[in-house]
Amino acid sequence: MWGKREDMLVHEESPYNAEPAGSALVDGEVTALDTFYCRNHGEIPDIPGKKWRLSVTGLVNHEQDFTLSDLESRFETRSLVATLQCAGNRRAGLIAVRDIPGEPWESGATSTAEWRGVRLSDVLSACGVRTDGPLHVEFTAPDVADEATPPQQYGSSIPLSKALSDEVLLAWEMNSEPLPRVHGGPVRVVVPGYIGARSVKWITGIKVQDHPSDNYFQSTVYHILPADADPDSARPGDGIPLSSVALNCDILEPADGATVPAGPLSVHGYALAGDGRGIARVDVSLDGGRTWAQAELAAEVSPWSWRRWSQVVDATPGPLTITARAWDTTAAMQPESAAQLWNPHGYVNNSWPSANLTVT
Ligand code: MTE
Repeated sequence: MWGKREDMLVHEESPYNAEPAGSALVDGEVTALDTFYCRNHGEIPDIPGKKWRLSVTGLVNHEQDFTLSDLESRFETRSLVATLQCAGNRRAGLIAVRDIPGEPWESGATSTAEWRGVRLSDVLSACGVRTDGPLHVEFTAPDVADEATPPQQYGSSIPLSKALSDEVLLAWEMNSEPLPRVHGGPVRVVVPGYIGARSVKWITGIKVQDHPSDNYFQSTVYHILPADADPDSARPGDGIPLSSVALNCDILEPADGATVPAGPLSVHGYALAGDGRGIARVDVSLDGGRTWAQAELAAEVSPWSWRRWSQVVDATPGPLTITARAWDTTAAMQPESAAQLWNPHGYVNNSWPSANLTVT
């Protein structure tokens, strides 16, 4: 379905929501198109590239409409390797603490691509964007989400200061292929360093305004509610809105629950730092966090991409629990347990990951 590999873990067929197994993310810095996770809140629009239009309105001196060939011919194109991570990634670990309605995403709602397009800042500058005051840039798309009452088109916003940064793209290529329809083709926003929800697919409208978007997906969901809040009665503005992605790491291989032979065992994972920070170190523990050894970090491919890590451990027969934790370049480290992080929508599980293995 949608050109994805057959072993995707499909949470929902319609709208299509699916993630690869962690082991499928081990090879390569960039995730293959058939493996990249999909997160959709509504049915997937079908917009031919030639019919696609983007209108830029609001606090700009010249409101303008753009076609895809306008973007291609008027602005410098750039490519960027960036990781997208859904705020619901690893929700299954929070559900294990206390039930949460919603897709039980495991480790795979995270993937990395090489995106190609134009800088959003160049398009905004061409429209004479105003830069006085703390403005926001709203993105709108045509897909309709039934989970909002009444149903609502998908939308979101980011602060103008982020929108004007070098890394935010209007992208029409992914891994040197035309952006697949399921990933927002013909054109989507890519907001590296922010939760995936802000990288709006099938973007058709951009509005510069003096407040964040009122859209349900900006004002109400993708907020961390207090643990004792009722998510069904959450009102716009309740909780902490999510923007910058949280420091996280995960063990991709071996899978939790696997049986492995005794001897040297290669452990593979990734670490991802939040907006504007880097990964400084990943540690691995075989004794539940009493002692730690440093994992080997692969070279940084891009400041906006995950950092791969690996470690060979000595697996001796019996049960073995491998735990990992990442530190960022500000010396912040992941929280230890999912219970500390539990929240009613099940967002941002960045607790220490572990894999419980049987060594034979
Ligand atoms: N954009 C639109 N128009 N509709 C959506 O449902 N989902 C968002 C974001 N952009 C969404 C969207 C969420 S929650 C995530 S995590 C990313 O797209 C997922 O992007 P992907 O499906 O390309 O992996």
